[in-house]
Amino acid sequence: MHILITGASSGIGLITAEALLEAGHQVTVAARRYDRFAPLQAMYGPEFLFPVKADLRVEQELENLVREARATFGPIDVLINNAGISRGPGWHQDVRSMDVVQLNLMAAIRLTQMVLPDMLERKQGHIINMGSVAGQVPVSTLYSASKFGLRGFSLALRRELLGTGVHVSLIAPGFVETDMTAKRKVPKIPPGKVAELILKLLKHPRAEVVIPGYYKILITLEQVFPGFGDFLVRRRQMLETT
Ligand SMILES: NC(=O)c1ccc[n+]([C@@H]2O[C@H](COP(=O)([O-])OP(=O)(O)OC[C@H]3O[C@@H](n4cnc5c(N)ncnc54)[C@H](OP(=O)(O)O)[C@@H]3O)[C@@H](O)[C@H]2O)c1
Repeated sequence: MHILITGASSGIGLITAEALLEAGHQVTVAARRYDRFAPLQAMYGPEFLFPVKADLRVEQELENLVREARATFGPIDVLINNAGISRGPGWHQDVRSMDVVQLNLMAAIRLTQMVLPDMLERKQGHIINMGSVAGQVPVSTLYSASKFGLRGFSLALRRELLGTGVHVSLIAPGFVETDMTAKRKVPKIPPGKVAELILKLLKHPRAEVVIPGYYKILITLEQVFPGFGDFLVRRRQMLETT
């Protein structure tokens, strides 16, 4: 299969790209840090790997990515919208902060728009979106906004496409050991666990998978007792100021 994965220069995306190549797929990888693809290029060569330098916040670069990917390996069978960023507090004072929505949500929607007509015509395809537990439990304002949005997009798109042969899956990880969470002192799963899940989803698409599963307790707690989350945040704020 020809699989296009974004955000493949580090973390979940890089490990997943390796796993996909190892499984024998032709993989287009995209990110800004093109040099990060060198080890994969050396290992798998141009027959299997097509690396693209792209800033996915830029419309022209999204269009180039899809056009060049198709020209290299033919129709895209699977799109994995993985690229994402998170920023700390103070989003309303940070001029760059809209990047979070632009990349995590808008780029995923635009890439989907670009690959979908061809998938529908071929009556096959799979879009896998990298959401987050933060797409169900509000924790970081713009990051949660982008991941709640991506969840809505993903689940509604899946319904829209039922019966067409095109599948949509959403992954909602908790904390994963990557650059994004390097400063967080919390239990994390290795990114390889998410890569394993993606390989399974290729065979058995699923509407939504929370990984690791124990985060479902947190999600349910948030849905049933949202006041509990407020209490925890207030408590942390008090501890920080005393
Ligand atoms: N780590 C976690 O705990 C966790 C939990 C839930 C969900 N997620 C999600 O998992 C996905 C992958 O994150 P990660 O944890 O693997 O973090 P990561 O190691 O920081 O990877 C982020 C990837 O996104 C790419 N990226 C960032 N800005 C970009 C841009 N403007 N254009 C193109 N690519 C860009 C980065 O590549 P370049 O910088 O080279 O462009 C990198 O490859 C994200 O969507 C994240 O929200 C992560």
